[in-house]
Amino acid sequence: MQNIDDTRKDLLARIAVSDAPRELLKVPELKQLYDVIKTLAPEERGAYGKQINELKLLLESAITERESSLEDLAVESIDISAPWDVNGRPLNLLPTEQGTQHPLTLELENVINIFTRMGFEAIESRQIDDDDHMFATLNFPANHPARDGYDTFRTEENFIPPAHTSTMQNRILKAGKSKLEAGGQIASISYGRVFRNEDIDATHEHTFYQCEGIFVSSTATLGQMLGTLRSFFETYYGQSLKIKTQPAYFPFVEPGLEFAIEKPAALGGKPGEWLEMLGCGMIHPNVLSMAGIDPQKYRGFAWGGGIERLVMLKYGIEDIRHFESGKLQFLRKFYE
Ligand code: DAH
Repeated sequence: MQNIDDTRKDLLARIAVSDAPRELLKVPELKQLYDVIKTLAPEERGAYGKQINELKLLLESAITERESSLEDLAVESIDISAPWDVNGRPLNLLPTEQGTQHPLTLELENVINIFTRMGFEAIESRQIDDDDHMFATLNFPANHPARDGYDTFRTEENFIPPAHTSTMQNRILKAGKSKLEAGGQIASISYGRVFRNEDIDATHEHTFYQCEGIFVSSTATLGQMLGTLRSFFETYYGQSLKIKTQPAYFPFVEPGLEFAIEKPAALGGKPGEWLEMLGCGMIHPNVLSMAGIDPQKYRGFAWGGGIERLVMLKYGIEDIRHFESGKLQFLRKFYE
């Protein structure tokens, strides 16, 4: 005799993959189950009938569910290039224009290309992170005043929209450890959006982009770092540049530096006009240890800086707020 449990299992499995699930209501197994009713003693029929009814309801709802997911699939395969109702009146839409990439996206791609050509791998930074990656693994002790320089936001669950892309350092170091042990090196950039609790003005935004670089090997030096950065800036601005550094404090590097370039005459600079472009330094031994990398064996350098600043200098943009404004007048200037 046909067993209700087996039939249920079998039909549910078939419905879930069927292109015509409703047809399955006609299978002989179900009919056999119905036919059993006639063979039962009258007092057994009620209980059996109830089970059959439950089975029907269950199959019915599985079928409806399957049908609606088939509809979703069908929607996805609609040909969106097909002409709109050819017999209807023309639609009164806004004038259309070809969309373009945001200037920051284009420039960021430019930056990424320069570094990947040098041999760095590039990964996007996270836009939501935690205290550990924002501070602890970067050698900011709990309650240390250096945390104040990175005043950002927190969700009620204590997640953090990161104030810098340095949040990626610990992840990159951990992931690259095996490369070091195999005699290789870590060479990575991370780029992405960062967020700060700022008073907004022409040079400060609450939301902006940064690019972070990290290099670790058994022989990394500060000189290599300066060479890498110089080479980046000269490629980006397409000309040779004067550079200088001055000491700065960041808990995750020792020594820590600010890196400046002389504003090129071609971009309206006067000799001696220095522009601070980013923070950098030799990775602090604690930061390496916290990622499981032995600071006695390996050393590294890191840097991080804002993308808007680079782009503003390149195009003579006077106000950082234009970038997030969505103003077409501003955006169009990049495509004239
Ligand atoms: N994260 C720092 C900031 O946003 C910039 C920075 C400084 C990054 C020094 C680094 C570094 O990797 O070594 O202010």
